[in-house]
Amino acid sequence: TATLLSRRFLQTPAPTSSKPPPDYAFAFDIDGVLMHGSTPISTASTALQLLSENSIEFILLTNGGGKSESARTAELSSRLSVPIHPSQFIQSHTPFAAFAKRPGFETVLVIGGDGDQCRQVAKEYGFRNVIIPADILAAYPPVSPFTTDKAPAHAQPLPSENTKIDAVLVFNDPRDWALDLQVLVDVALSDEGRLGTRRPGNSVKPHIPIYFSNPDLIWANEYHLPRLGQGGFRAAFNGVISSLRDAQRTERMERAFKPSEGGPIEGRTVEGRSYQDNLPIMRATVMGKPNRGTYLYAEEVLCSWRKKQLELAGLDQSHGDVKTVYMVGDNPASDIRGANNFKSDKNIMWVSVLVKTGVYKGGGRTGEAKVVVEDVLAAVKWVMEREA
Ligand code: G3P
Ligand code: MG
Repeated sequence: TATLLSRRFLQTPAPTSSKPPPDYAFAFDIDGVLMHGSTPISTASTALQLLSENSIEFILLTNGGGKSESARTAELSSRLSVPIHPSQFIQSHTPFAAFAKRPGFETVLVIGGDGDQCRQVAKEYGFRNVIIPADILAAYPPVSPFTTDKAPAHAQPLPSENTKIDAVLVFNDPRDWALDLQVLVDVALSDEGRLGTRRPGNSVKPHIPIYFSNPDLIWANEYHLPRLGQGGFRAAFNGVISSLRDAQRTERMERAFKPSEGGPIEGRTVEGRSYQDNLPIMRATVMGKPNRGTYLYAEEVLCSWRKKQLELAGLDQSHGDVKTVYMVGDNPASDIRGANNFKSDKNIMWVSVLVKTGVYKGGGRTGEAKVVVEDVLAAVKWVMEREA
């Protein structure tokens, strides 16, 4: 995390006010709290400006992604009319950067996002060989029977005839589920990641690790009902794998229990092998909110951001770290549950604040949020009154 953080502190902007920062800060979710898709939520800009005027620090902590941190913060800064720096910004795939130079990530399959933007982000993180499903489609057009554009402009040649994938990283929500799901299933069923192969017989060799950058089954954009997120794609993938496993189990059971001539079905136990032997046991790791690792990482980012801001304001570190972080989110299953369950290693208290402008619209389960308010401005005002 240290190298990750240091790299992102280039040209950190000076604080917008000389007031010493208080001992609390905010972590804002984006979709459903600050933005609906590319449209700012009406009170978001006012809320963030209120914080800047009072030297109250904040980070953005989203399960979204698909662009580089610098591109996304430039876009958000202009849309929200508040300076937002990459060093105060965490996307679902930001922690993937830590894998870039590790053994076992030499050639990665990156799934999700528009065009090959996620490939560019992965390369910016330092991954050496990055393949996307479009590359496989362009090399083998029948791989996805129903994908119409068989030679997308952003496709690149595969490194070799028998390319071997070491790991799969789902950076962001897939756009073409037919292609991406087929390619992911192919790699999961492959012989150690070799494209175009199947696991031999009862192979128990290790499986290709798959990293999903967030578990969001649903999320909120401009539409009035929640949309399927990356968690929906993962559920589809797990559904396909378990259906294949059931089919194989049925086939093996039918092979094992052969009806004799006219007599009762005689049976013998299937050779005692596990059914999982030749199907990928899902070595899938799911990151992003509400997972503990994401909040640990967010806390590191927040504390480093604050330290830098104190230095730039010429204030010594005696102001110390924050004591409380207010997590403002719209999704009880993600933002709220993550903040409520997180036990900080730095004795920082995380307090969950649920808004009604996203997945949660009022009524029903709130995920035991500390407070439920209308929108992000109401959230900021509630906290400032509480901390006054
Ligand atoms: O990727 C879309 C969705 O997962 C966004 O999440 O955390 O900004 O609400 P969030
Ligand atoms: Mg959200």
